[in-house]
Amino acid sequence: IKDELILAIETSCDETAVAILKNGTELLSNVVASQIESHKRFGGVVPEVASRHHVEQITIVIEEALNQAEIEPSDLTAVAVTEGPGLVGALLIGVNAAKAFAFAHGLPLVPVHHIAGHIYANRLVKEMTFPLLSLIVSGGHTELVFMEKHGTFKVIGETRDDAAGEAYDKVARTLNMPYPGGPHIDKLAQEGEPNIDLPRAWLEPESLDFSFSGLKSAVINTVHNAAQRGEVIKPEDLAASFQASVVDVLVEKTYRAAEQYNVKQVLLAGGVAANKGLRHELEKRFEGTQYDLVIPPLHLCTDNAAMIAAAGSVAYQKGTRGDMSLNGVPGLDL
Ligand code: KG4
Ligand code: ZN
Repeated sequence: IKDELILAIETSCDETAVAILKNGTELLSNVVASQIESHKRFGGVVPEVASRHHVEQITIVIEEALNQAEIEPSDLTAVAVTEGPGLVGALLIGVNAAKAFAFAHGLPLVPVHHIAGHIYANRLVKEMTFPLLSLIVSGGHTELVFMEKHGTFKVIGETRDDAAGEAYDKVARTLNMPYPGGPHIDKLAQEGEPNIDLPRAWLEPESLDFSFSGLKSAVINTVHNAAQRGEVIKPEDLAASFQASVVDVLVEKTYRAAEQYNVKQVLLAGGVAANKGLRHELEKRFEGTQYDLVIPPLHLCTDNAAMIAAAGSVAYQKGTRGDMSLNGVPGLDL
């Protein structure tokens, strides 16, 4: 039988990424061109800058992914691409590149949801066992998603304001750290004590939703009040306290959701899944329980195309196809 070879393209935010995946789980190449350096001086992702970089990089990154995998376009089975959500201009570069590539080589086109991609990154680590729960924490999303089987997604909890990564990045900016701030706060938090009292947004007793904007404001107020009183707060302690507050709520609500939905597996996904504190506390909470906790390696947590290929493979098998009218959809629902 012929191998299934999926080429996947991801350009929803600030990474131009292309990967090639064999038979659903064997990664042949995973190229990520990051634009972080270009966005740093603006303190965040500038959509116009992102689009321009994607245009410059996309053909080079596709070539590189094919070369590393030692694959000819004629060997491929299908082209998968992130359809949304994300920055519209950024998405369009990937979608158009995928359409052109698919058309030129006579390949089927498979549209993929970015969050489905983050979840399916776990399929490259371990077989998925249903029903399962996934905690997706990234710069744009904080969601608990329940899956009964492949391809069905039920959002059972989500943020009502900032995403977890967004809160990290905003707090980092208050502490004068470069963008993206998540990794810096994470590192600093390891060196400090969580001895500053900060709020935890549990919301209504039964709610699986999240809220981080109050916490973000509390951190900013703490910094300003201390400055006014001429007090010194150790940034390490502030980082540790902020992280403890975020992680407490994420871990506890994930555990509750696992119980409530009686799942077999719990998957972690998204850029904030790279957070050491979160990984550690989740492991502690789920250790010795009946739930199989899967935490992907760091390079599969932040945006990449391997995850789009993994989700794309399942979607391809299910018969999902896009045609030449495929468009980037910034607010695409899961
Ligand atoms: O999934 P991702 O690469 O892009 C989006 O789809 O948003 O996530 C990026 C986010 C940023 O907000 C970044 O600060 C955060 O993930 N992040 C972290 C860590 N590494 C990345 N947040 C906390 N701790 C980390 N170690
Ligand atoms: Zn993402």
